[in-house]
Amino acid sequence: MFITFEGGEGSGKSTAIERLGERLSSLGKRVLITREPGGTPISEEIRSIILDRKNTGMDPWTEALLYAASRRQHVKEKIEPALKEGTIVISDRYVDSSLAYQGGARGLGIEKVLALNQFALDGVMPDLTIFFDLAPETGLGRIRKNQEREVNRLDLERISFHEKVRESFLVLKEMFPERIKVIDANLSPDKVFEEIWNLVSLLL
Ligand code: TYD
Repeated sequence: MFITFEGGEGSGKSTAIERLGERLSSLGKRVLITREPGGTPISEEIRSIILDRKNTGMDPWTEALLYAASRRQHVKEKIEPALKEGTIVISDRYVDSSLAYQGGARGLGIEKVLALNQFALDGVMPDLTIFFDLAPETGLGRIRKNQEREVNRLDLERISFHEKVRESFLVLKEMFPERIKVIDANLSPDKVFEEIWNLVSLLL
């Protein structure tokens, strides 16, 4: 089983992922929690290039290709082997982030970015994708309060960029209604987790 979490900055997805991992482990399931961009040493190195605040001159397609390259390594080195041995894989972001950020918000086109990503995915698609829906101002406000979190290059985008990201996720939900489920990230962490657990239980 492969579950991915998506959502804007400060939507609370990391906390929810941790809780889900704990709940599944307590039921005796093998769980692997990972993230994108990153998840393997090579992918993490690519991540640092993409998110480096000095790389403001990065071309949008370079950005999309780097995310896809990082993903390819992640799929082959970590995700696919874990799924093959029956481990439940939970990833903090996956291909839908590329579709929403690069395809939608950067304007490269969702279909084109999906086509580019087919090389990286090699057919490894999530069984369930949970999108944390939240107004960008609310999310960014939460990040600013959280002093421990690094502010990366993508965080520095204008609010209108983050609005486009959100709209793009809602478009993706229409494109993949079976796979992508939306959760209102304004709800309390307990309520959010309850909804997640309902969705995951259906898969178990
Ligand atoms: P990160 O600090 O992991 O963000 P968050 O804590 O919000 O998940 O930074 C990842 C950033 O990269 C985030 O702004 C989303 C963006 N991103 C893309 O633009 N495309 C992608 O394919 C992925 C995986 C992430």
